[in-house]
Amino acid sequence: MKYVLGIESTAHTFGVAVVDENGEILSNEKDSYTTESGGMIPIEVRKHHAEVGDEVYGNAIEKAGIDEKDIIAVALSNAPGLAPCLLEGMAFAKKVASRLEVPLVPVNHCIAHLEIGSSVGAKDPVMLYASGANTQVIAYEAGKYRVFGETLDLGVGNFIDTFARFAGLGFPGGPKIQKLAEACKNKEELIELPYSIKGMDVAFSGLQTKLKNFLDKGEYSIEELSYSMQEHVFGMLVEAAERALAHTGKKELLLGGGVACNSRLQEMCRIMCEERGCKLFVPDFSLLVDNAGMIGYLGLKMFKAGLGEKDLDKIDIVPRERTDDVEVSWR
Ligand code: ATP
Ligand code: FE2
Repeated sequence: MKYVLGIESTAHTFGVAVVDENGEILSNEKDSYTTESGGMIPIEVRKHHAEVGDEVYGNAIEKAGIDEKDIIAVALSNAPGLAPCLLEGMAFAKKVASRLEVPLVPVNHCIAHLEIGSSVGAKDPVMLYASGANTQVIAYEAGKYRVFGETLDLGVGNFIDTFARFAGLGFPGGPKIQKLAEACKNKEELIELPYSIKGMDVAFSGLQTKLKNFLDKGEYSIEELSYSMQEHVFGMLVEAAERALAHTGKKELLLGGGVACNSRLQEMCRIMCEERGCKLFVPDFSLLVDNAGMIGYLGLKMFKAGLGEKDLDKIDIVPRERTDDVEVSWR
């Protein structure tokens, strides 16, 4: 058996995974930068990645129980993301690839979120990609993954995390807000909040201002605000996803990104899919959030399609690469 290594480093997570030549993910190890206060400082995150790299790598090889010499390629997420983080991941990937004398496969992180859907049975889905930095509705059409709709300002996860920070909760705020929303005693009356969707694009900044005002005034409990916030925000996302399904005529919806871990969002997607006669695919938590397993998984497909690069100097990071910049030749 031969293996492809996956390396993820676009943002807060440094991950290493081992995928076998059949696409089975044998190990999917990671270490994520966290902070109690403030946001992510890219230089600090880079330092984190440099510090944990060797240990995460060692764990991934050990868990998979493989011999390094059976690795045939190293896939790395070289785009899009925070430049310092991408540079650290690339340096690590080049070090391993040159030591093992194997090619590198450059993988787009957003497309990896979509492609991992095939590991749970999705064949040609519309993906609702809802993470910290990204909020997009993506699907394959005419040789590329196209962005049908996206956020015009903040990523939905960053928006929720900021609301949580205003409310004095730590980072990441998403899971805490979910619990508070579930604990809301008054689910009959929604607090009226901005609901901003144009076509398949969404926006959150108006909602953010309104929520901050409500928090400052102390008029509603944090449970009530969390509940109403989720109903509005997830309603917008589900509406954008439904329009993309109607527009493309596709019959599958795939979830991706950390916010897709939210059980209320999953429930709303399930109801919409049932009503439309579509199938919903939700990968395991470990494959929804940022992870190296999906990088190795797509890297293997790309390697098989001849997209491995032996001249390591030709590989560079592309921090602002867009989903539809990538020519999809492996499908
Ligand atoms: P990307 O680089 O793809 O934009 P990311 O670096 O932001 O992703 P992810 O791991 O995909 O990272 O997602 C993290 C986000 O997911 C955080 O904003 C976090 O609050 C949010 N999140 C995690 N669990 C939940 C949940 N149960 N409900 C809502 N949001 C959640
Ligand atoms: Fe991600």
